[in-house]
This record gives sequence, structure tokens and C-alpha cells, in this order.
Amino acid sequence: MVNLTKFSSIFIANWKLNGNSLFLKDYYEKLKVNSNNCTIICSPSIYLKSLKGNNINLFCGAQDVSSYKEGAYTGELSASMLKDSNIDFCLVGHSERRQYFAEMNDNVNIKSSNLIEENIIPVICIGETLEQKEKKLTEEILSTQIKASVPSSADHQNTLIAYEPVWAIGTGLTPTLDEINQVHELIKNFDTKFRNFKVLYGGSVKSANSKEINDLSHVDGCLIGGASLKVDEFNIIIS
Ligand code: PGA
Repeated sequence: MVNLTKFSSIFIANWKLNGNSLFLKDYYEKLKVNSNNCTIICSPSIYLKSLKGNNINLFCGAQDVSSYKEGAYTGELSASMLKDSNIDFCLVGHSERRQYFAEMNDNVNIKSSNLIEENIIPVICIGETLEQKEKKLTEEILSTQIKASVPSSADHQNTLIAYEPVWAIGTGLTPTLDEINQVHELIKNFDTKFRNFKVLYGGSVKSANSKEINDLSHVDGCLIGGASLKVDEFNIIIS
């Protein structure tokens, strides 16, 4: 399992359903990884194996995993198959999976537990919708999500949390810096168990705001969608 403590920050590129072989080749030629940081590229699964290079600070992450270990589940990829392909991280419970693929906290919990068993670090995503934020339900929603999604086997060395307000994903909107820092502090204080967890922020992170977000005292890195598709932009974020 990757030793998370040796990195000052963690940056994850979430390519979602984007990219192809040519894009990948060009991207990896231009990518400039900073050795103080842990950089993780979550490409579509079919490209994951071809991405594993020699850079010791560059890792591959999957965007999802099956909650089943094996059997008649057409289209699924198990945690052990990801391990077999040298994958070290996997996003779990991304809001797009929760929204479009009906992923629930209990699936997220099972998936994360299976990943940990295979020494893959789950990146468990949580976040409130705009409606929930406006109703001042953020704390309640996040508390429920984290308690139900994080398996009992999780600890600060084998699991990452990503706080991604749903309304900030792909919209260009972000919470204020104070709000981000407060929510991260809140997450770390939901339970003593979470106190040392690394919590990443995601939602409209770009080169123009990544430094000020990542510099916040309770932020341990960023999860980047749209801006991670432009390698020059991503290079600035991880520099
Ligand atoms: P965004 O996406 O950076 O495009 O807002 C983040 C994410 O979905 O993880």
C-alpha cells in the first residue's frame, strides 16, 4: 500500500469518461510530477494498465470498482483485478456515481472494504447538494455519508476522504476558502477515528485557485476533474 505520510499534498486527476490512447501518450509526455507530492491519475479503466510508468510519485487510480469479488456480474471489475493491474487507488462514491448509477453509502462501504483488503487505497467521496447546503443540512449529510460509507477497516493510512460539494463539481463555483477549511475540520472531528485522515477538496479546482485551497490548514490535497484534462493546467496545479 502506498505510504501516504511521506507526501506533503495529494493531487488526483479524475478524467471521468474522457481520453483515448493518443491523448494519454501526449499527456504523459508533458506531465511534470513534483516529487514532494503524490500525483494520481484516474483514467478510464481500460487505460490503467498502460499508464503505470517508472515515476515513483505517480500513481494510477480507478474511478470505480465492483462491490462483488467475483462471479456472474457482467461488466464489472473487482478490487483484486485492479490489484492485479498494479492499481494503488480507487475513487468510490463519486457524486456522479451516486447520482447516475444509484450508488448508495452501503455499496461505497463494501467497495472500500474490498479495496482495503487488496491494499488499494479507496478515495471515498462525500458532499452535499446545493439544496442541502441552502437548508443548512451540510453537516448532517456529510456526517451520515461518512459514517455509513467508511468501513470499519479504514484508517488514516489506508483510506482517503474527498469532500466534493455536488454543486461545485463542473460548475466553476466553489465554497469560500473559510467554508472549505471549516468543512474539512468538521469532517476530521466527526469522530476521533477520522482525526488523522487526509481530506482532499474537489469541485471546480483549477490552476487559479488550487494553491489557495491546498494551502488551507485542514486541506491535504485536491481532486480535480475538468482542469486535469489539460496537462499544462494540471502541471501548474501539482507543481
Ligand atoms: P471538476 O470535477 O474539477 O470538474 O469540478 C471534480 C470531480 O468531479 O471530481
